Amino acid sequence: MLKGGIMNFISIKEAMQKGTGEVSIRGWVYRERKSNKFGFIVLRDATDIVQCIIEKDKVSEKIWADMEKILIESSCEIHGTIHPEKRAPTGFEIAVSEMSVVSFAEPFPINKDQGTEFLLDERHLWIRSRYMTSILKIRSTVFQAIREYFCSKGFYEYQSPIFTDVQCEGGSTLFQVDYFGHPVYLTQSWQLYAEAGIFSLEKIFTIAPSFRAERSKTSRHLTEYWHAEMEVAWCGFDGMIEYGEGLIKHVVNSVLERNREELKILKRDPAKLKPAIEKPFKRITYDEALFLLKQKCKLEIPWGKDLRTIEEDKLTSLFDAPVIVTRYPKMIKAFYMREDPENPDVVLGSDFLLPEGHGEVIGGSEREPDLEKIKERLKAQGEKLENYEFYLDTRRYGSVPHSGFGLGVERLVSWICGLENIKDAIAFPRTMLRWTP
Ligand code: 4AD
Ligand code: MG
Repeated sequence: MLKGGIMNFISIKEAMQKGTGEVSIRGWVYRERKSNKFGFIVLRDATDIVQCIIEKDKVSEKIWADMEKILIESSCEIHGTIHPEKRAPTGFEIAVSEMSVVSFAEPFPINKDQGTEFLLDERHLWIRSRYMTSILKIRSTVFQAIREYFCSKGFYEYQSPIFTDVQCEGGSTLFQVDYFGHPVYLTQSWQLYAEAGIFSLEKIFTIAPSFRAERSKTSRHLTEYWHAEMEVAWCGFDGMIEYGEGLIKHVVNSVLERNREELKILKRDPAKLKPAIEKPFKRITYDEALFLLKQKCKLEIPWGKDLRTIEEDKLTSLFDAPVIVTRYPKMIKAFYMREDPENPDVVLGSDFLLPEGHGEVIGGSEREPDLEKIKERLKAQGEKLENYEFYLDTRRYGSVPHSGFGLGVERLVSWICGLENIKDAIAFPRTMLRWTP
């Protein structure tokens, strides 16, 4: 403890806002270097970093001895006088009068120029980096903004189970768990339980983990990701799309307002995000998407094929804001999507695709109201109807038109931060080849 033991610690950000005078701060050593007479410590806390200078002749022998031993990531408390200093990394410097090392760190395993896999192995330490801290702050804004948006529109927050015995997004990406001898799955989506929930609350949302046994080793797939989902009674296809667009606009706007510093640290140009808040998202049908791919990208896709990563990337390169693709062929979309009353070959489903190669961020649809059609499509997928009785009941007892969507939070964070890989959009990523730390 510092002298007297009663320090009024302030954050590094607050200390720099104060700008002059005495301050007490605490944090971890971000960088250190010493000469015969001077020691320099760049201290970091959750808010920022600041340079601290220790002059041998001006501090006690104990402090100087500690300075000689101190290594990166040691935790310490510092008292001194802050002043503007152009040459310091954040424009201020603290002349240290007191320093107390709370815990001397061992040599830190992470230094410059280390590979991606090593940093993933040391993830529990790497999250302390300014890079990861900036992403995690933006991620926190994104979660908050999602809640703000839905709450401001009169939604209730509602939760569905993680263990389920049904599939929602196809059997091939289910994780099976041994549940006291019964096979169950980790949920892919809250949707089937949300469709039951709207009969109680009408407008609901959640932010929860979803699981996909994705064998793809792409830069946009996780096996465990955070899913922001909504479901609304009495809401049609266009209404659902408006909510999706409104949500993305609110989230992007919130990050631009609250996280300028973090975007700067990540070298992410805010101008890349502006079109998403300034203009309406373009809406095109699947047929128009195929036409654009052929005309502008020289890619010919037979009708009925799903858009793969390569096609999505080519298509979105034609736009500077998210683009909404609607009315996909029925055969490539989930069993619950409503058949278009004007064309039974397509469904009232839409994917929101992000610019700059970040892929699909929202999948949503109006829900099929016809009980028999749902049964047929489930049977065609080889599903046992008895497992879906709770879901089929939603169409038996006062069925109403309704719609909903799911947004992949890490995909959105990835695009907002301009990340090369989705793994950096979450503190501890889970992929086909990584489940630790
Ligand atoms: O398009 P998906 O599969 O739709 C559903 O799950 C619906 N039941 C949602 C609903 O209507 N309530 O998934 C929705 C979104 C995708 O658009 C994508 O952003 C994200 O979830 N997502 C993934 N994100 C990271 N890693 C994965 N493996 C993902 N799979 C889907
Ligand atoms: Mg989808």
